[in-house]
Amino acid sequence: MFKGKARAYTNIALIKYWGKKDEEFILPMNNSLSLTLDAFYTETEVIFSDTFTKDEFYLDGEQQDEKATKKISTFLDLVREKGQTTLNAQVISQNFVPTAAGLASSASGLAALAGACNEALQLGLDNAGLSRLARRGSGSACRSIYGGFVEWEKGVDDFTSYAKQIPSDHFEDDLAMVFLLLNDQQKDVSSRDGMRRTVETSSFYQGWLDSLDADLAQLKQAITDKNFQSLGETMERNALKMHGTTLAANPPFTYWSPDSLKAMQAVRDLRKQGVPCYFTMDAGPNVKILVEKKHLAAVKTACNHLFSEKQVVSAQAGSGITIIK
Ligand code: ADP
Ligand code: DP6
Ligand code: CO
Repeated sequence: MFKGKARAYTNIALIKYWGKKDEEFILPMNNSLSLTLDAFYTETEVIFSDTFTKDEFYLDGEQQDEKATKKISTFLDLVREKGQTTLNAQVISQNFVPTAAGLASSASGLAALAGACNEALQLGLDNAGLSRLARRGSGSACRSIYGGFVEWEKGVDDFTSYAKQIPSDHFEDDLAMVFLLLNDQQKDVSSRDGMRRTVETSSFYQGWLDSLDADLAQLKQAITDKNFQSLGETMERNALKMHGTTLAANPPFTYWSPDSLKAMQAVRDLRKQGVPCYFTMDAGPNVKILVEKKHLAAVKTACNHLFSEKQVVSAQAGSGITIIK
């Protein structure tokens, strides 16, 4: 019997990954850049044993159905190939993040699973190797191997597509992110399906791709300069463009809800009042607000006027993947 357990934190992209060049290997169309956060995470244990007659997947205490288990098995097949074993596995995972709600559960979930497998089968993968492996489960997971600011280099093949931490001289320690939990239900359109539909049908997709080099360069410069305004403006613009592409897809769709618009307006109002803060959104209705810690209280107070206390959760920069003994 071989066992391993790991914890990985979610990450939120400031420059979004939105579209695949290769669906099998999960190679992205563009580089993306994220911040790992400490408020939401996954802990996953994996046990490989000859006593199991098939793979089993338990999430938050419940055995998952055939479809969800099949996804895990496909990922475990990659791991079994690397570890040269045919043993079946039990995967026991706990999400300290709502699942499939646009809060990056696939990032923390698949990074934790990759880490647990590396430990269980003693695969000896370094961070780059772990990032490549996690990527095969969910693209955004390749960034959750590291803490702080992380860039996923799109690469050209399986070997060259992985994430790296970017030097920041602790800039991330000055920052906080306020999560507005507007809806924690599972979304109708998964990230995977949403980006596929956008790549295949959206007439705005090329425009999105054409603007990315400039956004990425500006955001990296903002990190180097510790320029919060430039960081926030670039992040917000990038998110709005990503969400714009879904409106021109066929059939069109949006991840926004009326509450998302209310939250975006609240951020703009805060800025008018002199509180520098910026929003981003992923494949779901929940809004995330980036702010310097010195203005965190002002943002939380404003959010608490609009939403219930339970819906407003603040996070700081989180750390990379950890093995749990
Ligand atoms: P999210 O916005 O939460 O990342 P996605 O649509 O990208 O939503 O991914 C949700 C999927 O990620 C789930 O349906 C499941 O397949 C996978 N996932 C989420 N949490 C875990 C976990 N702890 N272990 C394994 N897979 C997970
Ligand atoms: C909008 O990594 O969840 O959150 O690779 O298909 O599993 P798959 O998708 P996923 O997509 C994340 C999309 C995003 C932007 C981002 O995190 O960069
Ligand atoms: Co996801």
